[in-house]
Amino acid sequence: MSSKVIKGGTIVTADLSYPADVKIEDGVIVEIGKDLSGDEVLDATGCYVMPGGIDPHTHLEMPFMGTYSTDDFESGTRAGLAGGTTMVVDFCLPNPNQSLLEALQMWDNKTAKASADYSFHMAITWWGEQIFDEMAEVVDRGITSFKHFMAYKGSLMVDDDEMFSSFQRCADLGALPLVHAENGDVVAQMTAKLLAEGNNGPEGHAYSRPPEVEGEATNRAIMIADMAGVPLYVVHVSCEQSHEAIRRARAKGMRVFGEPLIQHLVLDESEYFNPDWDYAARRVMSPPFRNKLHQDSLWSGLASGSLQVVATDHCAFTTEQKRNGIGNFAKIPNGTGGLEDRMPLLWTKGVKTGRLTPNEFVAVTSTNIAKILNCYPKKGAILVGADADIVVWDPKRKKTISAKSQQSIIDYNVFEGFEVEGLPRYVLTRGDVAIVEDKVDAKPGHGQFVAREPKGAVNRALSTWKEITAPRKVQRSGIPATGV
Ligand code: URP
Ligand code: ZN
Ligand code: ZN
Ligand code: ZN
Repeated sequence: MSSKVIKGGTIVTADLSYPADVKIEDGVIVEIGKDLSGDEVLDATGCYVMPGGIDPHTHLEMPFMGTYSTDDFESGTRAGLAGGTTMVVDFCLPNPNQSLLEALQMWDNKTAKASADYSFHMAITWWGEQIFDEMAEVVDRGITSFKHFMAYKGSLMVDDDEMFSSFQRCADLGALPLVHAENGDVVAQMTAKLLAEGNNGPEGHAYSRPPEVEGEATNRAIMIADMAGVPLYVVHVSCEQSHEAIRRARAKGMRVFGEPLIQHLVLDESEYFNPDWDYAARRVMSPPFRNKLHQDSLWSGLASGSLQVVATDHCAFTTEQKRNGIGNFAKIPNGTGGLEDRMPLLWTKGVKTGRLTPNEFVAVTSTNIAKILNCYPKKGAILVGADADIVVWDPKRKKTISAKSQQSIIDYNVFEGFEVEGLPRYVLTRGDVAIVEDKVDAKPGHGQFVAREPKGAVNRALSTWKEITAPRKVQRSGIPATGV
């Protein structure tokens, strides 16, 4: 069996930085220490050796708003690898009334050309006995997180009774519910009003989804999760209102996690006021970009620990697809890319500015989500026995982000022109070298499904607490006669 050694770097994990070599055999880390030798040597001098990034929020080849997102598992995982991300978690989206298992088959069929490992979240888009039953089977197949859209009325949205039923089922199964937290009823009314007033450009999208819409839904989901006795993960937290709800819940001991996106951390609402329609429409996503005060809130949440994960929600549509919404912003397919840029941008805007430490960077790009999704330390760790999903990070390498040189197959990049400092020298996926600086050698078909176990530590603790505090009938003696 041939071996590789990553030599001369500094290992950076979520809790420790130290100089050591890393030896890899058969796709896993077999030794960490000084002066290791192996058949092939990867020089990490001057670099940080970190767990590969995990992006817990992607939509590859996703049917949405009358079209399909253009990056698929081939281009999407390749883009991820080029930026240091070695695992993605995508969303399986059943149509209303469709079986979860049938939808899962459709999503399995998309992944043949994945070049990095992947897992799935399952979306609950309707409710009934069939869904209740199938959720158990989905968990048996290693998918232990269930997404709920509180927005997209008329397509993916579920209401509170459906959400409460599903959250209780998640509690029984030891699964984790996720929410897209925006009040879809309010968004629908505001959208109709804006359009009726002739406010039909991309900026109307931002006006239709103010931070209050997100804050209200986040609070509601948190309370419903608490009543169901289950942890909660809030995807794409974009504003102070939502972050505040999460912060407050966590301070009360509720098990709530929040995920800002790299887009919301670095792009602001002024993007929607660009006079070029295409420019603004390419940046339409939900929730929309916010102003600097909200951005500062998200950065402080990452530094203080009230927000735990940075994702991309990579959902890439071409300019042509975005043009479906000319004359009606509500028809612009919602979504932006970011898989290749998340880690370099977060390093540049976070670590280089001193807002995050290198260890915090590893925590929010990899380790925290591996723990939350219960695939740690197979993923998210530099430890003996862990998968050799590793990024050798050169803090001195620079580039200017440009659609011309990106791996994504769409025709633009929302971060066009951003200068980044901090890029991969090598990226390894289960021991295979997929990236050597600018050279991309992703192998379609290499990616494997990562099955996850239910009943993680937080679920177990919560169910114990809920059992201890469950309603109990008071046993009384001397019950008064009913006097019939
Ligand atoms: O605009 C977005 N975020 N598109 C992808 C679907 C979703 O809401 O996550
Ligand atoms: Zn209902
Ligand atoms: Zn969403
Ligand atoms: Zn999404």
